[in-house]
Amino acid sequence: MATTNISITVNGRQHDLLVDEKETLLEVLRDRFDLTGTKNACSYGACGACTVVADNEAVKSCLLKPEKYNGKNILTIEGLADGNNLHPIQDAFIKAGAIQCGFCTPGFVMSLYALFTNNLDASDDEIKAVLEKHICRCTGYEFIWDAAKLAQKMLKER
Ligand code: FES
Ligand code: FES
Repeated sequence: MATTNISITVNGRQHDLLVDEKETLLEVLRDRFDLTGTKNACSYGACGACTVVADNEAVKSCLLKPEKYNGKNILTIEGLADGNNLHPIQDAFIKAGAIQCGFCTPGFVMSLYALFTNNLDASDDEIKAVLEKHICRCTGYEFIWDAAKLAQKMLKER
């Protein structure tokens, strides 16, 4: 079994570790670092539940080899809040009623975080293009849309 040494920074903490060629970034985050906020639903890139932010880009961690992220910064849902203060995007999801079981929520939040970090003036079409990469089985997309727009407003007012 081939293994590789990598160094990655996750939520501001740097880690050196040995990964095997079959491991995904998602498995490293969940199984090695116990960051179980990043979810595994489909395992093949279709649902967006496993989305994390790598150097300000939203990526589906179930598809990715961790060695690709050697030397990079990974942000997961656990790294978003500031102490007891939720990030505005998390707050917006609660305020808009966009969470039921919550399984899909970290993925939506991380994708919107990447979008708004790169372009807080994202158009409605750009926001929709991001949301379309995710599947929610229970909330209904209107509430999620409301949450995305509220998050954009809250971030602008911050
Ligand atoms: S678990 Fe990665 S896209 Fe579904
Ligand atoms: S809130 Fe349950 S899958 Fe989206």
